[in-house]
Formats: sequence, C-alpha cells, structure tokens
Amino acid sequence: MRINQVCVLGGSGFVGSAIVHKLSAAGYVVKVLSRRRERAKHLILLPNVQVVECDVLNDAELSMHMQGCDAVINLVGILNESRKTTFEQMHHQLPARVAALCERLEIRRLLHMSALQTGTDAPSAYLRSKAAGEAAVMAHAKKISVTIFQPSVIFGRGDSFLNLFATVVKLMPVVALAKPEARFQPVWVEDVADAVVNSMDNVDTFGKTYELGGPRVYTLRELIEFVIFVLGKKRKIVGLNDKLSYWQAYAMEKLPVKLMTRDNFYSMQVDSVCRGPIAAELGVTPTAVEAVVPEYLANDTPRAAYDRFRGLAGR
Ligand SMILES: NC(=O)c1ccc[n+]([C@@H]2O[C@H](COP(=O)([O-])OP(=O)(O)OC[C@H]3O[C@@H](n4cnc5c(N)ncnc54)[C@H](OP(=O)(O)O)[C@@H]3O)[C@@H](O)[C@H]2O)c1
Repeated sequence: MRINQVCVLGGSGFVGSAIVHKLSAAGYVVKVLSRRRERAKHLILLPNVQVVECDVLNDAELSMHMQGCDAVINLVGILNESRKTTFEQMHHQLPARVAALCERLEIRRLLHMSALQTGTDAPSAYLRSKAAGEAAVMAHAKKISVTIFQPSVIFGRGDSFLNLFATVVKLMPVVALAKPEARFQPVWVEDVADAVVNSMDNVDTFGKTYELGGPRVYTLRELIEFVIFVLGKKRKIVGLNDKLSYWQAYAMEKLPVKLMTRDNFYSMQVDSVCRGPIAAELGVTPTAVEAVVPEYLANDTPRAAYDRFRGLAGR
C-alpha cells in the first residue's frame, strides 16, 4: 500500500497539530479538515500541508474532501457534551461514517484515535461512546486497514490537563482535589504522534488496537504535587472523598467554562493505566512527565525549574 495523501480530521487540535507536523516532516501530503481554517493557521505554513474548511458532520462535504486521499486519520473528540454536540454524534456516529466513506471511496487506510479504558459497560458516557466508535470502525477492518489508538491522558505544551491544574494551583491557596487516588499513565503528545505516524504504512499495525501510556503511573494527587513543585508554589491539597468529588463535579458542570463534569468524574472510576508497555512495532520509547513538563509549565525560566529539581535532590 503506497500512501501519499493523508486526510486528517481534528488535525487542528492539541494531538492533531503534533501529528500533522510529523506527517509533513515525513513527506506526506496532508489535508487538514477544520471547522475554522483560522484555528489551524499554525499548520498552514508547513510543507505539503493544506487546511480546508469542512463540516465533518456533513457527509457530502466530508466525502468531497476525503476523495482522492490514500489514508484518513480521525482525531475528532470532545471531553464534554454541549447542546450542539453529543458523545454519540462525535465518538460513535462520526467514526462510523468516516469508516463507511473510506470503504465507499476505496481509501484503504484508517487510523482512529480513541481513549484508554473504553468499554460498552464503562462507567462514563465518554468511554462508552468511544467504545461504540471503535466497534463501528473495526466493523470495516476486512476492507480497510484500521488501527485504533487508546491513549491515557496526554501531556505536552498546550495540553488541557496539566495546564488546567497549573492555572488552579496559581489561583487557589488550597486545591480541593476530586478523586485524588485516581490513577493515570500520562503519555507525551510527541510519543502519541510518533506512534500514529510510524504505524501509517506498517502492516504489523493493521487491524490492531493499541494502548498508549507513558513510563510511569501516577495518582492524580502525585501529578498535582508535581505541578505545584514545578511552579515553585506552596499549596495544600485537600483530597475529596467520592461523595464530595461527585458534588464538586456537579457544581463545576454548571459553570460556563466546564472545568469538570459528572461524566469526567465517572471516567475516573477506572484507572487510566495500560495493561503493558507500548507495543514494540510502534517504535516509541515513552518519555517521562519529569523530562518535559517543567519546560512548558514553569512560568519562569527552565533554568529556575532545574534549580528547584536540584534543590529537591539536595544538590
Ligand atoms: N488530550 C488527551 O489527553 C486525550 C486523551 C485520550 C484521548 N484523546 C483523544 O484524542 C483526540 C484528540 O484530542 P485533542 O486533545 O487533540 O483534542 P482537541 O485539541 O480538542 O482537538 C479536537 C479536534 O476535534 C475537532 N472537533 C472538536 N469538536 C468538534 C465538532 N463539534 N465538530 C467537528 N470537529 C470538532 C476540532 O477540529 P476543528 O476545531 O478544527 O474543527 C479539534 O481539532 C480526541 O479524539 C480525544 O478524545 C485525547
């Protein structure tokens, strides 16, 4: 299978931008579909990258833009539902439509971004909808070479996880932390992008689903302690029990900017931890949180963050 032109849905986002950079560097011709070209202007100057406006919920538009491509990467995802968009629509129906269109347009390669711990009986609607999307995509695996990725939480410059906590830590003297013992295996966005791009024409990855996690498992409390340390702050963390965590999520989902929802709380009922190391055929050696996060989270120079590390190490 010779892949030249790759169509990327959700390519303007946090993970998508990293993937598009690597696709461009690897010499692929890339077509990014975005609702607003403006949102993807950071990609326009990359060699062989074209950004086109497309409503991916419109079959005719989607089909027109996918036509002629050799592969499709679907990264569209939402963390919270709104009046306009639902998990069912974005995580199940959209992947199902993309896979069906691939088959109809004879596009033989489809890479799909899901999430860790999906399942039809998962505790959150987010995880259940992602499971439904995976099944819909895999239903086409006889005709299309499909690869599915299931990352734990993804970190990197511009992430919405550690950056959100950094904002909370900067603003609040005490951090009231929901689900402090929930476990995560954060994976670096560049490692996720490498896994996707390395799989593109690797037949060993066809028809497979891959968990993606970093080298270490952390509780949420440990991650926040690390953020506090990197920022050089002194903050008390008050861990909330399950009942209070639920009510905190309930209150927060009423805010105009949803910092957390009850569905996010339900997702944290299962540990976001991989069953084993990253599969060798993906060609990725995962990078540690400690090696990357200080560089983008500290609000002063990286040198200052290193100094704090040395202080902690007593050197
Ligand atoms: N970040 C993480 O920690 C994490 C962890 C596990 C799984 N994932 C999965 O990885 C994928 C990428 O995540 P991300 O962090 O890069 O998310 P992101 O930065 O929010 O980007 C999501 C992309 O989806 C598109 N999108 C969002 N809402 C849309 C809508 N209503 N209609 C059409 N397109 C829409 C956006 O494209 P335009 O705005 O350009 O149209 C955007 O580029 C998602 O499937 C997510 O579920 C992420």
